[in-house]
Parts: sequence; C-alpha cells; structure tokens
Amino acid sequence: MAAIRTVEIVPSLLSADPARLPQLLREVASAGLGWVTVDVMDGHFVPNLGFGPDFVRTVRRLAPLRVDAHLMVTNPEAAAPWFIAAGAQRITFHLEAARDARGLLRGIRAQGVEAGVAVKPATPPDGLLPLLDEADLVLVMTVEPGFGGAIFLDAMLPKIAAVRRAIDERRRECRLQVDGGINLDTVAAAAAAGADSLVAGHGVFGSPDPAGAVRALRDKAQAAFAGRLR
Ligand code: DX5
Repeated sequence: MAAIRTVEIVPSLLSADPARLPQLLREVASAGLGWVTVDVMDGHFVPNLGFGPDFVRTVRRLAPLRVDAHLMVTNPEAAAPWFIAAGAQRITFHLEAARDARGLLRGIRAQGVEAGVAVKPATPPDGLLPLLDEADLVLVMTVEPGFGGAIFLDAMLPKIAAVRRAIDERRRECRLQVDGGINLDTVAAAAAAGADSLVAGHGVFGSPDPAGAVRALRDKAQAAFAGRLR
C-alpha cells in the first residue's frame, strides 16, 4: 500500500479551557480536523490525573470529531473497554504498561476501533517495530508525558526517523504520531523526521485563534513532511 502522505494535526484537549469546550471544539472542527486526543492519566503511570470515559461521551456529543483516548495508565487492558464503550474511535496505550501489547492491539481492532501503541522518551523504539503490522498508529512521545506545555525533546528526532524508516520499509499505512511540545517552532523538525500525525495542546489552544493555529501547524508540517520525500 502507498505510504500515508497527508499530515494531520490532532489537538490535545488537556490544554483546552473546559469553560469554553463547546466553542473550542467547533473552532478546531472548522479547520477540517479529523481527530482530537483525550488524555487519560491515572496518577500512577504518569504523575497527573486526566479525563474519564464520560468526557469522551461529552466530546462525541459536542462535535463531529473522532476521539483518540491516549491511555497513560498502568492497566490499559482494563481501561481500554471503558473508553471503547464511551465511543472512542482509537485507543492508544503505552508499551511500557501493556502486559501483552500485540494481544491488546488485536483485541482493540477486533472491536472495530483503531489501535495505537506509544512509547515514553526513555523507551527505545525497538519494542514498537514488531508491532507495526498490528498497529494503526505508533506514538513517539516528545515530552515526558503527564502535562501540557512541556518543551519538545529534540533528542527524540532520531527515534522518530528510525520508526519512520521501519514503517516505510514495511510499506505500512501505520500513522507515526508525536505528542508533546509541538508548536510553530518545532512542528517542521518533527514532520521532517517523519511524523505524519502531530498532537498539539498549547500549540493550538494557547492561540487566540485555535482554527488558525491548526491550519498554520498543518501547512508547516505538510511542507516539511513532503520535503523529506524529495
Ligand atoms: C500529556 C499529553 C500531551 C499534552 C500535549 O503529556 O499526553 O498530549 O497534552 O500538550 P502540549 O502540546 O502543550 O505539549
């Protein structure tokens, strides 16, 4: 199959002002988005608490956007069904927490839901590579997960490039996503390294014009990603 060539920006709702959620969702949806990320955190796997299944139901009710539940939890096998039942169209869990990553990917996809697997900055990409034939998405975290507004880790660029090479060698449709510190200053480097899906929290919702921020990030990322193919 041809490699994916369209780059997507995925807003992280952790950075969205809850008091303005309906408006913000409408604004980013107007920018032609497909996905938003809902950060699920249990206070054990990462030192923060995030959203629950009811928040996914709310987002689904408020806007025609697909929801990726990013499970930063110690027991993704237990949590995945909760978020699938709540209507998440993709479940992304962490390799470091899964008991059987391949089995969990298969179990999620068997329910007609996309499946993603993520790694923290300190985790080498090697464990992701055997899973590329089972995953719809792999996520290379570009910050230590748990909070919005952290600084992009340039040290992750070689890891992104290594995963991109592995995906291209296998001619997989698998998305290569990055998450953390993505803004107008960092988005081009991440896309040039091979990311075709970029999660942005403050880079979108820190702007007075979230829709405009999505368009600017997407244009810059698309140009950088296409530039790597020349
Ligand atoms: C916490 C979450 C990220 C975070 C990104 O690590 O997984 O999605 O919200 O926020 P920014 O884009 O502000 O780093």
